[in-house]
Amino acid sequence: MLSFSRQVLPKARNMALTTVRTKATLPELPYDYAALEPIVCREIMEIHHSKHHQAYVTNYNAAKEQLDEAVAKGDTNKIIQLQPALRFNGGGHINHSIFWKNLSPEKTTPSDALKQAIVKDFKSIDNLKAELKTAAVGVQGSGWAWLGLNKKTGILQVVQCANQDPLQATTGLVPLFGIDVWEHAYYLQYKNLRPNYVDAIFDIVNWKDVSERFSSA
Ligand SMILES: [Fe+2]
Repeated sequence: MLSFSRQVLPKARNMALTTVRTKATLPELPYDYAALEPIVCREIMEIHHSKHHQAYVTNYNAAKEQLDEAVAKGDTNKIIQLQPALRFNGGGHINHSIFWKNLSPEKTTPSDALKQAIVKDFKSIDNLKAELKTAAVGVQGSGWAWLGLNKKTGILQVVQCANQDPLQATTGLVPLFGIDVWEHAYYLQYKNLRPNYVDAIFDIVNWKDVSERFSSA
């Protein structure tokens, strides 16, 4: 789940309803910054979490506050103008909140149900990894590769998302596992070798978390 803190504001004069404003907050990592070494070094994790993810949270909250004001005033132009900032920063918060939990320093394996679904849709886990790698390496510029579940068809799909577009809001697929291929996720350690970073990420997949996302979807 995403981290939010709720702030109940007092009833304003002439307002029929109490306004509840929900602020996004930076979630704590489920492990230490150095826990994913040597796959992802401490420095990357610390900057990625405490600077990049924090910036998405801060900027999303600022845009959301402006949105609340624009909605209260009925300022449709402002509401529309705020959409790119909400999509980018809100997406960044959603994506990274999933990404931290998708990774683990402990060795895990997919549940039987997830394994069966992977074999049904990709023939094998190795094939799934190969498709994810192709998608991740092929992202032009900054973005993500995702394993998502199409709830209508029950089929697992590998897709790319540009920038910080959140998978569910932009495609309808339920996100199970994502690979962040923004340069901030790997460049300090892997330089221009994105394929090596993607190969290494498969060693720290938290299959328990991915399986839980699959079963709750
Ligand atoms: Fe990132």
